[in-house]
Amino acid sequence: MFDFYWANIFSYLLVVSISIFFYLKKRFQYWANKNVPHVKPKSLLFGSYLDLMLGRISFQEFHATLYKQLSPHPFGGYYFFQTPLLLVRDPELIKHVLSLDFDAFSDRHIDADGSEPLRMNLFNLRGDQWKLMREKLTPAFTPAKIRLMVDLMKECADDLVSVLEKPAETGADVFITDLISRYGADVISTCAVGFRSNTLVDPNETFRKMILEIVNPNFAHKFRSSLLAMSPKLCIWLKIRNLVPPPVKYFISLVDENIKYREKSNVQRNDFIDLLIALKRDEEAANAKDPNRTGKIDISVEHLAAQCFAFFLAGYSSQSILGSALMELARNPKVQNKLRAEIDDYVQKENGNITYDTLNEMKYLEKVIFEAIRSYPGQPVLLRHCTRHYKIPQTDVIIEKGTTVFLPRYGLNHDEAYFERPDTFDPEHFSAEAKANRHPYAYLLFGDGPRKCLGMRFGVMNMKLALTKLLMNYEFSMSPKMKFPLTYSSNKIITHIVGGIWLRCKKRSQQ
Ligand code: HEM
Repeated sequence: MFDFYWANIFSYLLVVSISIFFYLKKRFQYWANKNVPHVKPKSLLFGSYLDLMLGRISFQEFHATLYKQLSPHPFGGYYFFQTPLLLVRDPELIKHVLSLDFDAFSDRHIDADGSEPLRMNLFNLRGDQWKLMREKLTPAFTPAKIRLMVDLMKECADDLVSVLEKPAETGADVFITDLISRYGADVISTCAVGFRSNTLVDPNETFRKMILEIVNPNFAHKFRSSLLAMSPKLCIWLKIRNLVPPPVKYFISLVDENIKYREKSNVQRNDFIDLLIALKRDEEAANAKDPNRTGKIDISVEHLAAQCFAFFLAGYSSQSILGSALMELARNPKVQNKLRAEIDDYVQKENGNITYDTLNEMKYLEKVIFEAIRSYPGQPVLLRHCTRHYKIPQTDVIIEKGTTVFLPRYGLNHDEAYFERPDTFDPEHFSAEAKANRHPYAYLLFGDGPRKCLGMRFGVMNMKLALTKLLMNYEFSMSPKMKFPLTYSSNKIITHIVGGIWLRCKKRSQQ
């Protein structure tokens, strides 16, 4: 009787295991059945993501390897757990995905529902909601608006210069990664959230603590993020939140207080909060005129705070590029000297005054910044969600609705076919001649098409200002603490150099 019982259980488990095995095997036939070149999954459970899930490689290395494995094919498949994903490698096809056939790829894959207010931001919004919000927010990033914000940025850049005075005197090693992230918190708090956090002066300031809770997630948070990436719908159904509640509450109340204060006092600071107030006012007036009109947008404080949150996250995470630019300048004294000569020239011409126009005229400065974004893009891939069945031009392959498509930002940027000596930091990769000879979609510094980076002018202007102020005052060199070749953290989606960036600096008058 006992043996019969266990024999039954055993056969039952055997049948279930064999069925699961064959089910998974069948799932992994997806790309082969479509005759699409693909990378064979390494594990039945994790698909192509085994090494990444076990922390053996970084997100950037994973995508760089994938890009090479699928060479020379214009596109190819792989698997996130059992879900088929497509990597598009060919610049001409990338142009179709980002621009020409935008209607089929208008969304990113992340689902955002109302349950997590801060996730209802421009980055995650879909379809018409995204289109309306993008239209409304675009005026915040015109050259005229950025010109007005330069004064706010300048105050933070001056603090950055002051903080370096002491280590420049003593010759101490400077932890650039930390310094630049504090600078980022100050610029973004003052331009996007409407108050100056002063994190450069006081690293333990509340705003910074809250930021660190968001950008340095603990294990539980990482687990939630993976689950969210795997199955957004399941997370919505189970009410699993991606963001930790305390910083979310803190952020919403900051934006709420600022909006209320400004509305009451009529104070204007020429920042994003001013724009959100104008947007709210226009929507309220239009709703009063015609309550049933189409094209309404949600102007609740949560929804407005979500837009600030997107600017905050995008601005804060892109600061790492500024740190990498400084590291490469320290490593390449010729480039540093050439850039300083250009800066000196312009600053002298303008009698020491740094303006929006001066910064825009410095061509070598721009090349250095673009080269830093190319070399250390932060986000190694772009992604799009296929919103309708799509036939890949000049092939019989159909990308099914719902498929996630990745575009290899890092892979293209480091491909010899597009960049001579791609692993060398050389601002001439962005000379007029080099750019003219390269396919415009073979480097995706800011993405492209209707969903390209909205804050590009703001981000570049901020880096231009910081580098100009720093090089006017200091000369940078490598610290012995800095180890090459660089290694990258395996548990961060935004590329992070293990150990961070350490440099030394000295005041220019001391030379
Ligand atoms: C110079 C530094 C920056 C770089 C290299 C950068 C790069 C990017 C990239 C690659 C994308 C994805 C584009 C795509 O999918 O086609 C993006 C999107 C975006 N970026 Fe930036 N970014 C930077 C700074 C900023 C800043 C400072 C802000 C805001 C203040 C910002 C706001 C955004 C927003 C809102 C989106 C989503 C746009 C949409 O979906 O409509 N970015 N950025």
